[in-house]
Amino acid sequence: MNFLKQAGEIILPRRVFGALQIRRERLRLAKISGEAFDAERLGTMTRRSLMQALSSPSISSEWLRDEGQLSHVMPFADIDGGICPGERRALYQLVASFKPARVLEIGTHIGASTLAIARSLATNSGPGAHLTTVDIADVNDPALGAFARLGLDSPRESLARAGLSDRVTFITRPSSEFLRETDDRFDLIFLDGDHAAPAVYREFAQALNCLTPNGTILLHDFYPDGRPLYPNGAIEPGPVVAAERITAECEDIRFLPLGELPWESKQGVRATSLALATNCVGTDRHGGMQVH
Ligand SMILES: C[S@@+](CC[C@H](N)C(=O)[O-])C[C@H]1O[C@@H](n2cnc3c(N)ncnc32)[C@H](O)[C@@H]1O
Repeated sequence: MNFLKQAGEIILPRRVFGALQIRRERLRLAKISGEAFDAERLGTMTRRSLMQALSSPSISSEWLRDEGQLSHVMPFADIDGGICPGERRALYQLVASFKPARVLEIGTHIGASTLAIARSLATNSGPGAHLTTVDIADVNDPALGAFARLGLDSPRESLARAGLSDRVTFITRPSSEFLRETDDRFDLIFLDGDHAAPAVYREFAQALNCLTPNGTILLHDFYPDGRPLYPNGAIEPGPVVAAERITAECEDIRFLPLGELPWESKQGVRATSLALATNCVGTDRHGGMQVH
């Protein structure tokens, strides 16, 4: 399948290839049965509050203080599979603004996002604020984790070097099992695991059930309208296709892409594929960005 993907990317213009990817994800998603989406605990987020989080001068200066330590532990560069430098800052600033006590991350990989979230919790949330990070692979095993082939420290070692070990619990498990069985509840859930539309669709329904009241769900690799965000022209079709079905089946939920960051994300542009889910009960459902 990877061979077909690579061949398609080489032969077809990016725009055509992207449209085919979206179509394929829609077909895959159409084959699975519907989930119940209980949006009661999902908080409401406005573009204005999002912009305040990203442009706050006090949070920005905390970031500038912490960035030095983080880049000492992990290169501040676009590393295969990890979230890009500008998005690490966005995550840091969102956590600093929302001040969650309990965060769940699905998809640890090299721990780029883990480090940013944990650093922000330690600097900006209360002393007990904690991150649980879940991955289907043992990300700290040199034979299985991606860090070794990339010449990095393991996520556990990186956190230890940053003095953040006590802020993070690693779980090696498929997200669906973890979300189904955990009794913990989270103020913020970051979904960056399996990006296939059926997986994101199911995971989102489960994540809603694991939120504290007024909780937040943040998605990565969300390409509004299936359009490329970066100069390389690539898209990840799954999350936006899942969001399309979720919003069609639950009128209380909308997705708010972060759009342009106030700083560069990667490849010389400011775009980000981060998007927040928001509860639109009592708000203008047609305001803000919609997913088509
Ligand atoms: C894009 S990477 C995450 C990047 C990470 N947030 C970072 O910044 O370093 C996706 C990760 O999700 C994990 N994953 C894939 N399917 C999963 C599943 N069903 N449950 C849990 N983790 C999964 C993969 O093993 C991979 O490490």
